[in-house]
Amino acid sequence: MHARWQQLLLLIGVAVRASKQDTSSTSDAYDHVNLLIGNGGDTPNGSGGMIPSTAPPFAMTRWVAQTHENFVSRTPYNWTASSIHGFQGTRQPAIWMGESGPVIIVPGVTRSDQAKVKQRFEDRGLTMRKDTEKISPAYYSITLDDGLGGEVQVEQSATSRVGHLRFTFSTNQTPYIFLESSRPSVITSTPTNITYPNGTVSISLDRTSRVHEICGSNSERQDHIITPVSTQPHVANFNGYYCARFEYEGEAKTQSGTKPFGVVSNDTMHPGTLSGSGPLLGGYVLLPSSGKGKTVVNVRVGTSFISIDQARKNIDAESPDGTALEGTVQRTKQAWTDKLDRFVLEGASEVQKEVFWTGVAHALTYPSEQHEQNAYYSGYDGTVHRGPGVESYTSYSIWDTYRAEWAFLILFAPERLPGMVRSMLSDYKEGGWLPMWKNIVETNIMVGTHADSLVAEAVVKGVEGFDRELAWQAVWKDATVAPRNDQSTSYFDREENVDYEVRAGLSTVYAEKGWVADDVHSESASRTLDYAYDDYAAYKLAHALGKPESITNLLLQRSMNAPFTLFNNATGFMEARNANGSWAGEKRGWTEGDKWAYSFDVVHDIPGLIKARGGNASFVKSLDDHFNGGHNDHTNEPSHHIPYLYAMAGAAHKTQEKVREIAQANYNNTPIGLSGNEDCGQMSAWYIFTAMGFYPVNPVSGEYVVGSPFFDKISIDLPPTPQNKKSRKLTISAPGAPTKPYVKSLTVNGRKVDWPIISHEEIKDGGEIVFEMSATPEAWGNGLLANVRS
Ligand SMILES: *[C@@H]1O[C@H](CO)[C@@H](O)[C@H](O)[C@H]1NC(C)=O
Ligand SMILES: *[C@@H]1O[C@H](CO)[C@@H](O)[C@H](O)[C@H]1NC(C)=O
Ligand SMILES: *[C@@H]1O[C@H](CO)[C@@H](O)[C@H](O)[C@H]1NC(C)=O
Ligand SMILES: *[C@@H]1O[C@H](CO)[C@@H](O)[C@H](O)[C@H]1NC(C)=O
Ligand SMILES: *[C@@H]1O[C@H](CO)[C@@H](O)[C@H](O)[C@H]1NC(C)=O
Ligand SMILES: *[C@@H]1O[C@H](CO)[C@@H](O)[C@H](O)[C@H]1NC(C)=O
Ligand SMILES: *[C@@H]1O[C@H](CO)[C@@H](O)[C@H](O)[C@H]1NC(C)=O
Ligand SMILES: *[C@@H]1O[C@H](CO)[C@@H](O)[C@H](O)[C@H]1NC(C)=O
Repeated sequence: MHARWQQLLLLIGVAVRASKQDTSSTSDAYDHVNLLIGNGGDTPNGSGGMIPSTAPPFAMTRWVAQTHENFVSRTPYNWTASSIHGFQGTRQPAIWMGESGPVIIVPGVTRSDQAKVKQRFEDRGLTMRKDTEKISPAYYSITLDDGLGGEVQVEQSATSRVGHLRFTFSTNQTPYIFLESSRPSVITSTPTNITYPNGTVSISLDRTSRVHEICGSNSERQDHIITPVSTQPHVANFNGYYCARFEYEGEAKTQSGTKPFGVVSNDTMHPGTLSGSGPLLGGYVLLPSSGKGKTVVNVRVGTSFISIDQARKNIDAESPDGTALEGTVQRTKQAWTDKLDRFVLEGASEVQKEVFWTGVAHALTYPSEQHEQNAYYSGYDGTVHRGPGVESYTSYSIWDTYRAEWAFLILFAPERLPGMVRSMLSDYKEGGWLPMWKNIVETNIMVGTHADSLVAEAVVKGVEGFDRELAWQAVWKDATVAPRNDQSTSYFDREENVDYEVRAGLSTVYAEKGWVADDVHSESASRTLDYAYDDYAAYKLAHALGKPESITNLLLQRSMNAPFTLFNNATGFMEARNANGSWAGEKRGWTEGDKWAYSFDVVHDIPGLIKARGGNASFVKSLDDHFNGGHNDHTNEPSHHIPYLYAMAGAAHKTQEKVREIAQANYNNTPIGLSGNEDCGQMSAWYIFTAMGFYPVNPVSGEYVVGSPFFDKISIDLPPTPQNKKSRKLTISAPGAPTKPYVKSLTVNGRKVDWPIISHEEIKDGGEIVFEMSATPEAWGNGLLANVRS
């Protein structure tokens, strides 16, 4: 769409919605989003790592009150803090990832001519009046003590690329705003490991138009050190650009005649200077006080990965001059309620409602947009790609999100799916590989090439709108091409100075014998199991695209063989192996898990797994040992599917018990209410599916395993897909479910379901799922295994 038209439509949109706001803008769903859930940082019980940010779904830049400078292992907001530094436009996707090119806007007041802006944040924090803090996805506000007897009320909203802030200074001193372009940057997660990235800043004060700007750029990218070496030269020119636009009349008077604006460069103030570059940099202006003890200034901060000029264009498109803060709030709230209101819950407790709807909000935050108005910056080749409707996304934590977050997006954000897949294919074209953990560019974090699963699941579930042959090429490359220096590089987690990790170990023994050698590669046992699943995903894709049997057979065979090469008959557990075939020890080779969780990690061949573990009864006993022995670790993803395995071995009622216990123990509505990291939506996607009563244990199967729905009823208005513009109702009825955990019978669209599997096909266009619940265990669901093996 032409930018000018887009702008016009936005303006019309504002008017229409603003009038709506006056009548009915209440949303039960929106009101139950509690963005403090999962903020708790580093307690054993709460490493959710989420921040209370304002932004629409999938936003490129999210805005948050900054209580701490963030880095790998620290987020910018800590709910226990009592002071803030300013308001940050952040791209840190998760607590364990690095920040990229942030901008921070700082309101303050000063008694002297020299704004105190040059002091580092640690000295400067303004005291929060905690009781005034209001947190919601579209609006944040807080009143701060200005330290000189007055206060500053800060209100914040945002569109995907523009932060919209309103500062109300109630003071007799001189207010100022400061924009920070570059700051000390912590590398790795060691706070003393600091570098000083460069930034730029320029100030333009236009007394005629009264529209002023402070614009700049920030080259900080904390994950640079783990960027694959062949991409490093391309992404070296990365910048987060910004342009802050604000209006006021007149000019602040200073006593000594120094100019009421300037640059702070390398922590030294330069009043009267209009631009600068280098480390520890920012720009400030003192604001003329209105004389009535109250000064109000609206600031729109456009952000971009392309240029300062593009940051300006993003303001013009998303928050044109004259848009009141209320208009931005209303539009962003609308973007959320469009999604959240699609779920109507009956029989959920207040805590469950908060966990559920906050979960929906978290799950719709990732991945985040990297495109801006028909263009995107690619760090893979260091250039800007332009074209009508081009899309790019970042924040792909695929080792986590392939499990259930992607299935959630396919159902609830189908309009985004084609663009998200195209984005991965662009990464492949520009960088040579599909992403693993993309944070602007690849970071090589975690193992496995699970983008294979994302692509295969999309195809299996009928997502269209991307080049399937190109997708196949990329997946086939993952399955067949080993990374650079595969024989001599361990590819341990966050290893620096290596190239794309992809299927590290593919060229040692995996392809011929079926395991990744523990004496050559790190995390070998997890890799083996993950590669086997990825091969199965590649097989499903090959099969769907009609590839020759030589290919489908190879992939299927590898995927079925590899897992069991690790199964140590003597111990009954999976175990890593060395290149020569000897066992490497039960503690070796695991990624964020142990032998207990990983010995259940063959989601694509559950019958095979049951057989290897001695048949149904023995398998159920091994699940009992796992749970009773305290080995299920829901804080980490390898355990997520395990409770559902009971249902595949004739003990469906145990699945029904366990999923409820796990939900109860690992989710609540407090800052430590997520027992594990949110991991870009996976923790919440588990909860949402589980509460609905089914879960995608094997994502590429196109099937869900049935558990135990939590509520009396969930009515879902499925969003339109590119193929089916109508929204469709999916209702899940389970009268009595809040107190009756067991399933007595199930029908899907009238079909009587005896085996605890439902297919995506039968619910994707809506329908009726009806559970009959029971207070005591039922025999339901323990039907014939042979009927479901595909
Ligand atoms: C938050 O602050 C508390 C108190 O200072 C501290 O113990 C905790 O580690 C912090 N959490 C994060 C995630 O920084
Ligand atoms: C944290 O987890 C431990 C062990 O799982 C538990 O005993 C403790 O009660 C939990 N603490 C909180 C505050 O939830
Ligand atoms: C400090 O950062 C560098 C990268 O600049 C990294 O190679 C090194 O391992 C880090 N040191 C520590 C102690 O974390
Ligand atoms: C900042 O720029 C200067 C001058 O171009 C350069 O020497 C320095 O290496 C840069 N610093 C960083 C951290 O890139
Ligand atoms: C910044 O200041 C420090 C110490 O004040 C000095 O060592 C450093 O060279 C300065 N950097 C630049 C780029 O001027
Ligand atoms: C485990 O036992 C099965 C059945 O006896 C056998 O086929 C398989 O090769 C054994 N696995 C290993 C790794 O020795
Ligand atoms: C097999 O490899 C392991 C690990 O490299 C080594 O310790 C062991 O001695 C080897 N065994 C044989 C029989 O070569
Ligand atoms: C295992 O349990 C499933 C589900 O009840 C059943 O279909 C299958 O026949 C059982 N297998 C054996 C070997 O008993």
